[in-house]
Amino acid sequence: MAIKVLPESLINKIAAGEVIERPASVVKELIENSIDAKANSIEITVEDAGLSKIKIVDNGIGMSKEDAMLCFTRHATSKIEDVNDIFAIGSLGFRGEALASISEIAYVTLITKDNSEVGTLLAMEGGKLLKDEGVGSARGTSIEIRDLFFNVPARKAYLKSKQVEMNHITNVVMQYALIHPDINFHLISNGKEIIHAPITEDFLNNIMFVYGTEIGAELIPVDFSANNIRVHGVISRPSFTRGDKSNQSLYINSRHIKNSLITESVYKGYERLLFTGRHPVFVLNIEMDLSLVDVNVHPTKREVRLKNENELDIVVSQAVAKALESVNLITPATVESETNQAPIAKYTFTTDKQETLAVAEEPEKYVSVRQPPEIVQKERERLFEPEETTKLGPFRILGQVNRTFVIAENPHGLCIIDQHAAHERVNYEVFLSDLDGKSVKVQELVSPKVLEVTPVQYSIALGNKERIESLGFRFDEFGKNSLKLSAIPQLFGRLKSTLFLDILNQIEDSGSKVMDEEELDRIIRFSCKASIKAGEELTEIQLKTLLSQLEGCTNPYSCPHGRPTLIQLSVADLEKKFKRSGW
Ligand SMILES: Nc1ncnc2c1ncn2[C@@H]1O[C@H](COP(=O)(O)OP(=O)(O)OP(=O)(O)O)[C@@H](O)[C@H]1O
Ligand SMILES: [Mg+2]
Repeated sequence: MAIKVLPESLINKIAAGEVIERPASVVKELIENSIDAKANSIEITVEDAGLSKIKIVDNGIGMSKEDAMLCFTRHATSKIEDVNDIFAIGSLGFRGEALASISEIAYVTLITKDNSEVGTLLAMEGGKLLKDEGVGSARGTSIEIRDLFFNVPARKAYLKSKQVEMNHITNVVMQYALIHPDINFHLISNGKEIIHAPITEDFLNNIMFVYGTEIGAELIPVDFSANNIRVHGVISRPSFTRGDKSNQSLYINSRHIKNSLITESVYKGYERLLFTGRHPVFVLNIEMDLSLVDVNVHPTKREVRLKNENELDIVVSQAVAKALESVNLITPATVESETNQAPIAKYTFTTDKQETLAVAEEPEKYVSVRQPPEIVQKERERLFEPEETTKLGPFRILGQVNRTFVIAENPHGLCIIDQHAAHERVNYEVFLSDLDGKSVKVQELVSPKVLEVTPVQYSIALGNKERIESLGFRFDEFGKNSLKLSAIPQLFGRLKSTLFLDILNQIEDSGSKVMDEEELDRIIRFSCKASIKAGEELTEIQLKTLLSQLEGCTNPYSCPHGRPTLIQLSVADLEKKFKRSGW
């Protein structure tokens, strides 16, 4: 085929395809423009998941007539001037492509006014100017997009269901609403309000407007600075997690980004507090030198390149660890408040605590929660009451329920302890400290046990011999696919050789032939769980020992899998509870 230079309109459509993948991309670009224009109110109205209409009205600085005439031109931008600016970008936009791309593939009406007397109205169709006139309007910009992709039907065919496309839009608005307490965000879809996050005085309050107070109460504030990097925002308590990563919001200099390395660093900060396969909720903004972030990597600017990844890793994980250290991680027993709050719609979350969360009645995935600000404020005050010192004990044991729960009194009030979870935590920490000190206690078997294993297990065992032996096992080859086990770790003595096989299976299941740190940790957690017998009645002395061991743990509040070890009912909670009963 002979080479042809493509016509301008086709070039523009190709370029538009890179920036605008779906209706949510339009919403993202327009919100970013409004934020760059210093608006403190952004109203987004969509119809038909954005396909028939997207309208965004802001009260930002607006544009003069000359600027408005230029804004749909490709590579026309007010945000950078020369090549040096690309390496220190403080605005969300800089490519001068978004409006050009959108106007290429839709009908666009722009009304904008800066401080001039008269505003400007421009109407565009598929990249061509149809109308240009002066209009009266308030300062700010309103952009209405109709019939997105009307001239690129192939793109339409790739879109998902309206529900999915709408979820993408809601998500985009949410990401910006979460990070901007200083901006009033309003999202309306087919006449129905989806998000309303008014201007609030602070970060946490704002998050509660988007996610609801229930979730707000599970969040811990983070504010940590080191090496000219500030990590600011909230993370969820380790007991409040999701089955996926969809409620994790990461920003660099208030730009929403995806970055698996930084996400990893957040998990590192939780260290061993998270249950395997569970994901914390977080909203974290990293403020750092603009010159260390290259945002010119991806047409939609969703990825960035970072010059100081290692440093960031350390600072982010420290920020998370410090925030967790600073609060009491004891799970409070829920005591209803005396004021009867009206039932509120709740953000639908799949969490460890799902049974305690009311399910939203709305079918939408994202539901805004609007409450009178005083409720949000009250909730916030409760959250930021200075936490009492987190010392757990001393405990006075009052009894045991169902051979599972220990009832005790401690300086905070009444305490209910799950003896198995507590035992697991104690074993886990004892084992880890033995492992760190290379002093895992070993129990020699009176007569060594010969184990027949599969060829895969055989090679896994030999390939990880040193690692497995560091856990307190001793074993040797014993002919073809047989191993001779001569010692087992004392702590897990009850399990005998089955634990050894379980460890091999765990390594095999994970698909890795070599055991890494994460794998090792998973095995230890799993072993601790397996070492506890359910429904065991403990003597008072055993219970006392258990509780004092728990008190001595670095993190006594949850078992190695993230389940709470104890529930605390403060004296104030008890008083509240009894006053409710009528006297
Ligand atoms: N809501 C708005 N208020 C004021 N000015 C705006 C607004 N939206 C766009 N503009 C002006 O129009 C220009 C072009 O916008 P466009 O989004 O196409 O490019 P950009 O934001 O500069 O870069 P990018 O393509 O990376 O978004 C902007 O640089 C800005 O000057
Ligand atoms: Mg832009």
